[in-house]
Amino acid sequence: MRIGSLAVTVLSWALSASATVLLNEQVVDNPYPGQAANISLDDSWRTYDAGADEIAYKGRWDSKHISWWTAAGIKLQFSGEQLAVSFGADTSEGVLVAYRIGSLEWQYSNVTADYTYQFVSSETLKDIDAGNEKIFELRVSNWGPQIASVSVAQDAALTKPPTFDKRVEIIGGSLTTGQFASYESLSGWAFLLAQGLGNVEYTITAYPGVCLADLKCYGGGVHGMPWWWHRASDPGSRARGMYGDEPEMFDVKGDQPADLVIIQMGGNDHRKPNEVSGADYYHDYLRLVDDIVHIWPQTTVVLLSQWGQWTLEGTKYVPSVLYESETKRVHDHFKEHHYVRYFDTKGVLQYNDISPKNHPTDIGHVKLASHLLQWIKIMMRWDLEPTGEVQHNTLYWNNQQEY
Ligand SMILES: *[C@@H]1O[C@H](CO)[C@@H](O)[C@H](O)[C@H]1NC(C)=O
Ligand SMILES: *[C@@H]1O[C@H](CO)[C@@H](O)[C@H](O)[C@H]1NC(C)=O
Repeated sequence: MRIGSLAVTVLSWALSASATVLLNEQVVDNPYPGQAANISLDDSWRTYDAGADEIAYKGRWDSKHISWWTAAGIKLQFSGEQLAVSFGADTSEGVLVAYRIGSLEWQYSNVTADYTYQFVSSETLKDIDAGNEKIFELRVSNWGPQIASVSVAQDAALTKPPTFDKRVEIIGGSLTTGQFASYESLSGWAFLLAQGLGNVEYTITAYPGVCLADLKCYGGGVHGMPWWWHRASDPGSRARGMYGDEPEMFDVKGDQPADLVIIQMGGNDHRKPNEVSGADYYHDYLRLVDDIVHIWPQTTVVLLSQWGQWTLEGTKYVPSVLYESETKRVHDHFKEHHYVRYFDTKGVLQYNDISPKNHPTDIGHVKLASHLLQWIKIMMRWDLEPTGEVQHNTLYWNNQQEY
């Protein structure tokens, strides 16, 4: 694969994890509530290695148990009152993870290669009547960890948690990854939507800079989503450093079939220097959707309209849509045969839901996720779970009443 220097820059955007969270240019105090302590494992622990059947991997991981793409995770059912995860040498420095027990609010911690972090202790559990059915879930923000092992108390055990019957897959670029939102993936609409459904398995095959059109990105010769969808690792420079031009294949057919696939693409195709033509965009969009509906004939595929810029006209801002007619043509093409739907984001996001970095604000992500949840409830007739749309670190409130 030929990659121009520009592509290297663009696809490396997301890779620098930082201990500082800036909110509207202000440093956030205590950015990682829940920072786990690193520990040394001793005789009081029982350890399961990364390949153990008891560990349920969610999203895309490769054969070395390295996570790729957006908000991949692990889920563990455990007994006892302690749980720790050891991270392997191929973990990105200081990568941010979110973790929780059951559907309680997510906690945040950064983790580093070759360290073991204790996420659950009797202190964590002291106010929770969790019994022996405790489910621990960890999700990754910045495309980073390698799992080396999981440990519980010496006299305790891990069991694989039950798998939800339904699965959702969301495919996109940086807007879908939550790039430039407070907690990146973990503040992004795709994660908020998927975990907001409360009882579905999900995979977010999204990465900043990825194009829909194949071999037309960043000067040509760089693959697009129809190709990447079949690869375990993402198009970033970290993966390229590890696997060069031959990333591991990902067996889409072997995965739990998706009941719902949501695609949001076009932002990177449209931008300089790519400026992919409408014809090429349409061609590869058709190719991707065709591939998906052949592999999962029962799935519903939702094509999200891709917003562009808003322009001030008189006293209102007028939205634009990228590749609107092409996306509608893809929708038309499948109308007769499959459950392919078009979701118009016009009217959901407004000009002031977009940050100075040209991506949705945290609130913009919540809006999009919430509207899509209602769409899914009405169109798919899936119930919203009472434990579904739990946000985290969004306690923005006013503590003065005098104005
Ligand atoms: C590990 O824990 C020690 C002791 O609390 C601390 O000083 C150190 O910064 C931690 N290192 C990492 C990488 O978490
Ligand atoms: C992890 O987060 C803590 C708390 O914010 C910070 O002090 C530390 O420097 C971070 N470590 C890395 C490696 O980013």
